[in-house]
Amino acid sequence: MNPPILVTGGTGTLGRLVIPLLREAGHPVRALSRRGGRSAPGVEHVTADLATGEGVDASVRGAGIVLHLAGGQKGDDEIARRLVRAAQRADVRHLIFISVIGADRVPLAWLRTKLAAEEAISSSGVPWTTLRAAQFHELVLTMAQKMAALPVVPVPGMRLQPVDGRDVAARLADLALGAPAGLVPDLAGPKVYPMGDLIRGYLRATGKRRLTMPVRLPGRAGRAYRDGANLTLDGATGARTWEAFLAERVGQPTPAR
Ligand SMILES: NC(=O)c1ccc[n+]([C@@H]2O[C@H](COP(=O)([O-])OP(=O)(O)OC[C@H]3O[C@@H](n4cnc5c(N)ncnc54)[C@H](OP(=O)(O)O)[C@@H]3O)[C@@H](O)[C@H]2O)c1
Repeated sequence: MNPPILVTGGTGTLGRLVIPLLREAGHPVRALSRRGGRSAPGVEHVTADLATGEGVDASVRGAGIVLHLAGGQKGDDEIARRLVRAAQRADVRHLIFISVIGADRVPLAWLRTKLAAEEAISSSGVPWTTLRAAQFHELVLTMAQKMAALPVVPVPGMRLQPVDGRDVAARLADLALGAPAGLVPDLAGPKVYPMGDLIRGYLRATGKRRLTMPVRLPGRAGRAYRDGANLTLDGATGARTWEAFLAERVGQPTPAR
């Protein structure tokens, strides 16, 4: 039997999409998270906290391939360093990391932690692959739902190129099962949208009527977003559009009025 592939963040949005693909390819999976999940044939859930180190060595032991998806609003650099040390001790032969497009270009604290995480992995001596992805449709939907709960919806002056989490999961599964490749081309969605179009698309699809208000993003990060530092015009693109995702999740859009 193959050794298990460790998927950190295996209970998250991306983890839940990638694990079935690794199973279909015939690999047992060990899914790591703090709260754990229900194990099933071929998928063992383990609990560990990458922020404190508790349970991490035991989770990494015996896994030749580690797909690092665990992350949050802050501390992703520390989490990566802790995982890297465990991977070094366990002689991991391939560490794959999901990062964010613009990690090296948008001066925001959480993106700096992503870049530091990338650096911890690339300098670790463990053979590695890093994929930077755009915002997932799933995240844009959550953002739109929260914004639409307000009586007036603020619309930041920026563009997004959202990608379907399933397209990211498929790319990551291929990368995890291939040879270590270093920093691979970015993966974004098939279309670039002004933020207002994404939100108005959601409002139409859900039949909600809201006033929208343009908001200028401040500072250097705002300028980087306005300049499109979060987009990838020459990288790879996923197949599924925001409109197709919306239709699946919230129903067919009604025509614009
Ligand atoms: N969503 C996007 O649009 C997007 C775009 C590009 C890149 N990414 C990156 O892709 C990765 C996965 O995103 P996602 O949307 O799937 O995230 P998610 O749904 O929030 O899932 C995060 C996962 O990480 C686990 N986790 C968080 N902190 C942990 C810790 N200290 N120790 C162990 N496990 C921990 C969570 O489980 P517990 O809470 O139970 O620990 C959960 O399984 C993240 O690194 C994110 O930055 C996301």
